[in-house]
This record gives sequence, structure tokens and C-alpha cells, in this order.
Amino acid sequence: MKDVQRIAIVDPSDATREPLRNLLLGVESVWLEAECSRYEFFIDGARQSSPDIVVVTLDSDHNKALQLIQQLTGEFAAIPILAVSSRGDGQSILQALRAGAKEFLTAPVVLEEMLLALQRLRQGRSSGADGSASANGSTRTESLVVSVVGTRGGVGCTSIAVNLGCNMAQDTLGDADVALDLIPEYTLADVAMNIERLDMTFLRRSLCKHASGLSLLPHRVQMEDIGLIHEDHLARLINLLRASYSRLILDLSKRFTPTDLTAMRVSDVIVLVAQLELTSLRNAVRMLHTLNNEDGLGDKVKVVINRVGSDDCDISLAKAEETIGRPIFWQVPNDYRAVLGARNAGVPLLMHPPRSKTHQSLVGLASALCGRAAAVAPRKERRGFFSFR
Ligand SMILES: Nc1ncnc2c1ncn2[C@@H]1O[C@H](COP(=O)(O)OP(=O)(O)OP(=O)(O)O)[C@@H](O)[C@H]1O
Ligand SMILES: [Mg+2]
Repeated sequence: MKDVQRIAIVDPSDATREPLRNLLLGVESVWLEAECSRYEFFIDGARQSSPDIVVVTLDSDHNKALQLIQQLTGEFAAIPILAVSSRGDGQSILQALRAGAKEFLTAPVVLEEMLLALQRLRQGRSSGADGSASANGSTRTESLVVSVVGTRGGVGCTSIAVNLGCNMAQDTLGDADVALDLIPEYTLADVAMNIERLDMTFLRRSLCKHASGLSLLPHRVQMEDIGLIHEDHLARLINLLRASYSRLILDLSKRFTPTDLTAMRVSDVIVLVAQLELTSLRNAVRMLHTLNNEDGLGDKVKVVINRVGSDDCDISLAKAEETIGRPIFWQVPNDYRAVLGARNAGVPLLMHPPRSKTHQSLVGLASALCGRAAAVAPRKERRGFFSFR
């Protein structure tokens, strides 16, 4: 779990305080420390509770609210203040910032804007000129979004996505939660249909948590529901998820649909899964060609060869690299018994003894994708260890 931010709200109006409280209650990283309905009483409460962040709503009485912000800034210079007002004009924003507020949000506050503002405050960064958060996400978050895309059906995307997710969820350095492919109560289509009124509580309830620590949001079984999910739904959803989860793994379709492309655009890394056989490698070349023509997408691709060492590998790794024109980032060895056994048992490889070489390789891939260079075996050793023709 990310560090908890203890927040105190002051807002004399029930009509605006309640939605703000509900919004904050839905954010996992927020602990609502205090709520106050009088500007003049708040300072005493702040002395007692010393919150990490104070949210001051200005609308009930701008002068009193600005005075409070000044007073708070004077007494608790280290506690950042987030001002909220329905008056989002330059004058109101300036007044709030001059009084000492670090962030300004326009009411009614939108979830993404709140999450981004909280994130900036956590990182101790001051806001830009108008102080408002941008929902379209120019702010870089700490999360890692990985799209897993296959060069043909059955190439191993879901196996890789699920096991990568579980391995990342084991990582005690981060709260590795991921979205991937299973069959719980809610699906991507449910979330898409509710996207307009989506809040963090609903979103969290929609994800189903696996014992390994990862959270899942599956797609629906019915094909007709696929049309319910639009690009902007997906972009918003990923933005929301990356604000509160540190790792997202997206198991994409192989059809290069507009939603697949949206997912790839918002991803930090695109894992392109191929096998050492002609159809797969030919498709890899085509897909790379398309991605290279899409602004910046080609640069995100890391080619992963799955099932190395299987009887179906009729092309050498050197030839594969030459064909697709870029280095192979990772090789995942073939272990039919382990991968199928784990799948039939309904568990990830890490819960399926004995620990297979495929599992070890996917632990290494998870570390490498998370940027832990030390965990990456040198290329030569990998070649030797997962030997192939
Ligand atoms: N490294 C591996 N070693 C052995 N078998 C594997 C390996 N990776 C995947 N498989 C097997 O390959 C088959 C297809 O895998 P998977 O479902 O992960 O592929 P996919 O690309 O997601 O397929 P789809 O196109 O249906 O979405 C499964 O039976 C799985 O057990
Ligand atoms: Mg699949």
C-alpha cells in the first residue's frame, strides 16, 4: 500500500463537504483525520491532529477561508494546503495561492484531479501557475504500465501477463497490484458503462483481489460487450488505476483494435510476445512496422520470446533478431508441464511447485521491467542457461 496521507477538511457547507469527503474516502491512500464545519474552530483541531494535508473549501466565506489559510501557513509551514472553490477564475486562484495554498482545485472536484493533486503534494512539488491539476495526465506518476501483446493466438500472452503480475505483486518494495484476465464479479465492461460516475470506491470494489496480492479486472466473456469499451473509457480507467496502483499489466487482444492502441499509448512498456517460428516472427515484423509509425510506440517495445527450447522452435535466436531487426529483450523457456499444470490448478507459477525454470525466468523479467538492472542476468549467461538451438 502507498503511504497514507492524513487529511483534514474544513468546509462549513454540508452540500460541498459531503461529496468531498466521499471522494476522499474512496482513495485508499487517504486517511480522513478530521472534518470541520467552522473556519474559526479549525486551527485548534489542526494543532491537535497535525494532519499531513489540509483541504480548505473557500465558497462559504472567501475572506474567512483565506485568513485561515494564512494562519495555517504561518503556524504549520510544513503542512500543505489544498484550496477548493467553485470559482475557478484567475483572481480566486491567485488569492488562495498568495495566502499560502499549495494547490487549487475547482469544485466539484473530479477524482483524477484530486489524485494528481495529492500525488504532487506527496512528492512535495509545488503546482504550476494556476495550481490546478491536469486530468489528461501530463504529470508523470510513479506507476509502471505494461501492455502484453501477442504476435499470434496462443503465443503465451496471458501466461506471461498473469505470472508477471503475480511476481510483481510479491515485490515488497512496491504495492504491486495489476489488472488482468479472470472471472470475478465485475468486468471491464461494467466499469466502462459506469465510467462517467466512476469513483475510487466503485473502482476498487470492481477489482477482485487474488491471494498472491494482485488485483484483477477481467474482460467479459460475451463478445458483444467488447463494443461497450471505448478508447476514452480505457484511457480514463488506466489513469485512475495508475494513480493508486504501482504496476498495471494489460493483457491485450491480438487484433490491434483502437482500444489496444490506446492501451499501448498509455503504457510505459509494450511487451511483444513471439515464438521462434515463422508466422509469429513475420507478424512481429508487421506489428513493429505499425508501431514504429505510431509516434513513440516503437521505442517502448521489448521483444520477449516465449517457449524457447520447445520442439516448435524452428528458427534460431540470431535469425529471429536479424528478421525483426532488434534485440530480443528476454527469453522465456518452454516448460509445458509446469505452465499447463499451474493453469489447470488455477494458480500462478509461483504457487505451483516445483518452481520451474519458466517461473524463474518470469521473475527475472518482472525485475528487469521494473528497472532493477541488477536482477537482469547478462545476456550471455541467459543464453547459456536457457539453451536453445
Ligand atoms: N513458457 C511456456 N512453456 C510451456 N507452455 C506454455 C508457455 N507459455 C504458454 N504456454 C502454453 O501455451 C498455451 C497458450 O498460452 P496463453 O493462453 O498464455 O496464450 P495467449 O497468447 O494468451 O493465447 P490467446 O491467443 O488465446 O489469448 C497454454 O496452453 C499455455 O499453457
Ligand atoms: Mg490470452
